[in-house]
Amino acid sequence: MSLKEKFSTGPWLIGIFIFCGAMAGVVLLGLLAAVVTEKRSEVASIFNNKVEDIKGIEPKSERWGKNYPREYQTFKQTSEMNFKSKYLGNMPEDILEARPDMVILWAGYAFARDYRAPRGHWYTIEDMRATLRVGSPGVGDSKDLQPATCWTCKSPDVLRMMEKMGVAEYYKAPWSSLGSEIVNPIGCADCHDPETMELTITRPGVIEYYQRTGGDVKNATIGEMRSLVCAQCHVEYYFKGDGKYLTLPWDKGLKAEDMEAYYDELEYSDFVNAVSKTPIIKTQHPDYELFLMGPHGEKGLSCADCHMPYVSDGGVKYSNHHLVSPLKDISASCQVCHRDSEETLRNLVYERFDSIVELRSRLEPELAKAHILVKIAMENGATDEELAPVRKLIRAAQWRWDFVVASHGAAFHAPLESARVLSHGIDKTFQAQLLANEILFKHGVTEFDLPDISTKEKAQSYIGLDMPLLEAQKAEFMKTVVPKWIETAKANGRI
Ligand code: HEC
Ligand code: HEC
Ligand code: HEC
Ligand code: HEC
Repeated sequence: MSLKEKFSTGPWLIGIFIFCGAMAGVVLLGLLAAVVTEKRSEVASIFNNKVEDIKGIEPKSERWGKNYPREYQTFKQTSEMNFKSKYLGNMPEDILEARPDMVILWAGYAFARDYRAPRGHWYTIEDMRATLRVGSPGVGDSKDLQPATCWTCKSPDVLRMMEKMGVAEYYKAPWSSLGSEIVNPIGCADCHDPETMELTITRPGVIEYYQRTGGDVKNATIGEMRSLVCAQCHVEYYFKGDGKYLTLPWDKGLKAEDMEAYYDELEYSDFVNAVSKTPIIKTQHPDYELFLMGPHGEKGLSCADCHMPYVSDGGVKYSNHHLVSPLKDISASCQVCHRDSEETLRNLVYERFDSIVELRSRLEPELAKAHILVKIAMENGATDEELAPVRKLIRAAQWRWDFVVASHGAAFHAPLESARVLSHGIDKTFQAQLLANEILFKHGVTEFDLPDISTKEKAQSYIGLDMPLLEAQKAEFMKTVVPKWIETAKANGRI
């Protein structure tokens, strides 16, 4: 039977086609109606329930919360401390204690005093005051170790102060001078326009990067905004010049090598390592950059897809504002797209972390050793000129180590890129050690003892930190200075 015959002889067949078509139409219409109602209820809930009229910069999230109780309820859950995955979680953890080699890598810089795993956004202000990295200004001889720039990623009060003081003046101020002004943890105003509730970029760093490279962040798509709001803080940045102006070093590209070239061209370093006298770039946390280079970033996913999954509540669909490890709720975070079991998905994450941690654990102690070899060479008469190529290698190796280590989710966000960067770090570290050993040999040093840096206390005492003094000053600071800040903030209606 030819094709023509088949069609011409079967009017009943056409009937079936029409019937099926009509049925499909009905089903589709039904689906559309469902989507429209769902959308409507979502939008309606946003605009009909407004009980607070919020205008301008409002750092108090509880006021916004009256209009958007679901988002506020979940937002408040960032105060929880009840989850631990294999490597991460929402509890504070003393990382220097677990990995004392890091004290050597950061010798001469505030990170050698204190470094903890991040917790929820709820704690940004509390954690900032309590860290030894900012010093205990106002107690004994302790001075401000940081500029106000350090507050930038911690609070919507920053926006108020930037508006009041001007951005450049704000960055320049000493950290403690704004202690009674910057008092609310990360909040709604950091990511939303109060009138339209649209996502908005409030931090100048991202806006200025777009301007420098001929773009405008206002043209970003919604998908891009669902990541860019996070990129306001979860990125690599540095404090430029004497004005400590927060700047994103992305002009040559987002890869570790691109940013390194940017910094090298400026001969920029954050500190000189106190053990090896190497000028070091301290990586912040290139979460956004590395994410873009991983499988999900390359497929166009956004941070919010896993960290702020949709929740349905009585027909209203909203975004879960409890920003935390997605492993806390795999079904909402992953199973909307993947059909694998929770256990499989969890193991896929752990597998990636295991591999990256394996490389990191190889690199970290060897990099610390490279710093120490340079110190021993210096003690035995090696000159700066001789040591310059070793220091160059150490600088490059440490940048690569930190690039991955400081980006807490990188092992999952971009496992291949993380492994690539760490591998070069390992290569450069062993090159540095080889060269340092040659120099030691040239100076007649064939035997030497390596210091015992097996605990945080031993490593800190090796680099000459007086921890009991620093801790006593901090305790005094928390007891005398911070309560005054809070009192003033309350009196001025800031909290
Ligand atoms: C205004 C700056 C800022 C913005 C915007 C921001 N973060 Fe954060 N984020 C932080 C800081 C600071 C911490 C560490 C807080 C601490 O340890 O006190 C943090 C911590 C986290 C954590 C760890 C939480 C835990 O329980 O350990 C996750 C996950 C996270 N952020 C994801 C995101 C995502 C996703 C976005 C965008 C939707 C985002 N953040 C936007 C500054 C920011
Ligand atoms: C770190 C950034 C960030 C903070 C802080 C934040 N949001 Fe959101 N919010 C988002 C993102 C991302 C979305 C998803 C937007 C989209 O997909 O268009 C969103 C969506 C919303 C929506 C739209 C409906 C929904 O749930 O998807 C409302 C309303 C909202 N947020 C309210 C709030 C309130 C109230 C606060 C403070 C208690 C807050 N947000 C804090 C990033 C943030
Ligand atoms: C495909 C899902 C997915 C996307 C999209 C995603 N992440 Fe993650 N993120 C994870 C997973 C999984 C972890 C590891 C959690 C663990 O091991 O407990 C993680 C970890 C993190 C952490 C460390 C959390 C902690 O407890 O210390 C931060 C911070 C983070 N992500 C930020 C981001 C940012 C910023 C973006 C967007 C640029 C993003 N993530 C996009 C899945 C995702
Ligand atoms: C919005 C959809 C979406 C969500 C949510 C999502 N993924 Fe994916 N995932 C993808 C896509 C798309 C790919 C790329 C698949 C491909 O190209 O075959 C992918 C790839 C992967 C891969 C393979 C990556 C590789 O190395 O090539 C793993 C593992 C994975 N996802 C785990 C997770 C986990 C765990 C979560 C939750 C934390 C998650 N995904 C959340 C869409 C999603």
